[in-house]
Amino acid sequence: MLIVFIGPPGAGKGTQCRRLVELFDIPHLSTGEMLRAVMEQDTALSRYVASYINAGKLAPDHLVMRIVSQKIKSPDCAKGALFDGFPRTMVQAQMLDDLLTELKRPLDVVLELRVPDEVLITRLLKRAKIDGRADDNDSTIRERLRVFHEQTKPLVQYYGAQGKLRSVDGTESELDVLATLCPL
Ligand code: AP5
Ligand code: MG
Repeated sequence: MLIVFIGPPGAGKGTQCRRLVELFDIPHLSTGEMLRAVMEQDTALSRYVASYINAGKLAPDHLVMRIVSQKIKSPDCAKGALFDGFPRTMVQAQMLDDLLTELKRPLDVVLELRVPDEVLITRLLKRAKIDGRADDNDSTIRERLRVFHEQTKPLVQYYGAQGKLRSVDGTESELDVLATLCPL
């Protein structure tokens, strides 16, 4: 089972994926987590990645695709995967389609979590006080939202046209959102 999760920063992608992987027993592939893991090292690559993430910009498509394609071909993903925050650009979506066609593994469903910007900003500023993620500050949050609307939102139409999209209201409580998502 291959599932894609699309949603703006703070929509609850990570929160819902952590619950869904327990139910489906497939790996949670968060490109944000993978890129933050790269940033923890002290290398030229980590500084390159940090220059994008800390500014609220998207990492380059070719870099993200290299990481994802290695993962998806690994034995861990034989039963499927839950993509959190990937794809995030039209180029990534088209490259994922090409990769899955080559692997003969079609995407099952694309879940979109819809949450208004003002709710997202409140959630992320609250999280900033707890988790200390470098990109959870007012100006970077606003840039992440701008980038989402400009570069990621068009994927909703792209997957809608493929008949794969399911849009869910992400403003309900965590458990209510999960209950809506569950009859996948
Ligand atoms: P990424 O790590 O994916 O961050 P994001 O998309 O900005 O989203 P978040 O992780 O902040 O939010 P979330 O939707 O997971 O919500 P969460 O469950 O945490 O990406 C970070 C950066 O990496 C990007 O900006 C980019 O630079 C780079 N990157 C990543 N993928 C990339 C790609 N494919 N291509 C290029 N670059 C890429 O919840 C948020 C908060 O809300 C939490 O505190 C949570 O407890 C709370 N919450 C969750 N659900 C609810 C609810 N229902 N009600 C109330 N509160 C809730
Ligand atoms: Mg997340």
